[in-house]
Amino acid sequence: MAAEKKITVLGATGSIGQSALALVRQNEEKFSVQALVAGKNYHGLAALAREFHPKIIGIHDESKHSELRNLVSDLDCDVVAGEQACSNIATIPVNLVIAGISGLAGLPSVMAAVCSGQTIAIANKESLVSAGAVLTQKANEFGAHILPIDSEHNAVFQCWGGWKGHQAGNIETGKIAEISHICLTASGGPFLTLPIPEFLSITPEAAVKHPNWSMGQKISVDSATMMNKGLEVIEAHWLFGLESRHIDVLVHPQQAIHGMVYFHDGSIIAHLGGTDMRTPISYAMAWPDRLDWGAEPFDLAAISVLTFEAVDSERFPCFTLARQALEAGGVAPAVLNAANEVAVNAFLQGKIAFTGIAAVVDATLATGLAGDLATIEAVFAIDQSARKQAHDLVAKGSVFKN
Ligand SMILES: NC(=O)c1ccc[n+]([C@@H]2O[C@H](COP(=O)([O-])OP(=O)(O)OC[C@H]3O[C@@H](n4cnc5c(N)ncnc54)[C@H](OP(=O)(O)O)[C@@H]3O)[C@@H](O)[C@H]2O)c1
Repeated sequence: MAAEKKITVLGATGSIGQSALALVRQNEEKFSVQALVAGKNYHGLAALAREFHPKIIGIHDESKHSELRNLVSDLDCDVVAGEQACSNIATIPVNLVIAGISGLAGLPSVMAAVCSGQTIAIANKESLVSAGAVLTQKANEFGAHILPIDSEHNAVFQCWGGWKGHQAGNIETGKIAEISHICLTASGGPFLTLPIPEFLSITPEAAVKHPNWSMGQKISVDSATMMNKGLEVIEAHWLFGLESRHIDVLVHPQQAIHGMVYFHDGSIIAHLGGTDMRTPISYAMAWPDRLDWGAEPFDLAAISVLTFEAVDSERFPCFTLARQALEAGGVAPAVLNAANEVAVNAFLQGKIAFTGIAAVVDATLATGLAGDLATIEAVFAIDQSARKQAHDLVAKGSVFKN
C-alpha cells in the first residue's frame, strides 16, 4: 500500500532532519521520503538514501558530488549538488517539505518551496527572521502553507483553533481579532542563574549544553544568549501576523508549557508537553491529524511546580536587541540575524567572549545598514553587508574578547 504522505527533508542529516526521519522510520505506511538534502555530510546523506529510498538527493557542497554519487551508485536515486539544484528539489511536488537547514543557508530552498505552493513545515527560523516579509507575501501569492515546527510556535499553532496554518499573516482566515496576545516560553538556557560577572568566562562547551533540549550547536548558543527567543518573537510576528506587543515571552525553566494563547474572553489555552522535538514535528507532519509516535508519558506530578518570570534584559541583552530589531522593522531583523550568525561562529571558534556576541550584534546594528527587502537577492545583499561589518568588528575587536 502506498504511504499517505510524500515528504522532502531539507537538512536531513541535522537534528531536526533526524527527528523527522525517525518518525518516518516508525510510520512507513503513513510517510514516504521523496527527496533529501544536506550541506556537506555526504556519508550521512548516503546512509539515509540507502534506508529511505528517496527518488533524489542533493548535497549543497558541490565538491562532494562525485563521492556521494559513488556511495549510492547501486540505488535508483538521482544525485545532485549545489545550491540551485538543492533549491530545485524543494519545488518537486510533495505533501510536505520539512525545512530543517540551519541559518540563512535555508532561505533559497524555503523560498523555492513557497513559490511552488508547497506545504512547508518550517524549523529554519532564520529564513523567516531575515526574509519574513517576502516569504509571507510569496506564500499568499502562491498559496503555500507554512506550518511551524519550532516548539513554541507549534504550541501556539495547536492552541489557536482559528489559526490553522493558512497562508502566513492571513488575518481573515487566521481570526486574529479573537486573541489578545500569545506567549512563548523560554527555558532561560544554561546560564539563567549564573552570576552576571561570570558571563565573560563562559566557554563554548558550557554554552552548547542546554538543560532541556538536544539541538545543533548554533541554536544551543542562541538559547544560552536568549537570542533564540528573540528570533522566535520575530518568527512569531511573521507566522501569525502579530505585532511585537502581542507576543509575550516568559522564562519557564521547567519547560512544561511551550506556548499559550490569551483570548479576549479571558481564556488562556496553554500547550504542555515533553522536550522532544518529535512532538511538534509529528504534529506538523500529521496535520490536521495527530501521530501516535510513542511519546514518553508526561508526568506533571514529578515536575510539581511550574514557575514563570520575565526576561532579565541585563542578563540577556541579545533578547532585547532582537525585540528592538523587530520594532525597528526594515532591514534590522536581517542585520541582527547575520551579525548573530557571525558572532556565534566567532564565539564557538574562541575568537570572542560569550558577552561579545551581543556586543557584535549591537555594533553591527548601529552601523545603520539600509535597504529594501522585496526579493531574496536583496535579503542576501543586506545579509552579506551585515556579515562583513560583523566580521570586521570581530577581527579588530579586542573589546569583544575575554
Ligand atoms: N534542533 C532543534 O531542536 C531545533 C528546534 C527548533 C528550531 N530549530 C531550527 O531548525 C534549524 C535546523 O537546526 P538543527 O539544530 O537541526 O541544525 P543542525 O543539527 O546543525 O543541522 C543542520 C542541517 O542543515 C544542513 N545544511 C547546512 N547548511 C546547508 C546548506 N547550505 N544547504 C543544505 N543543507 C545545509 C546540514 O547538513 P550537514 O549535516 O551536511 O552539514 C544539516 O542537515 C535551525 O534553523 C534551528 O534554529 C532547531
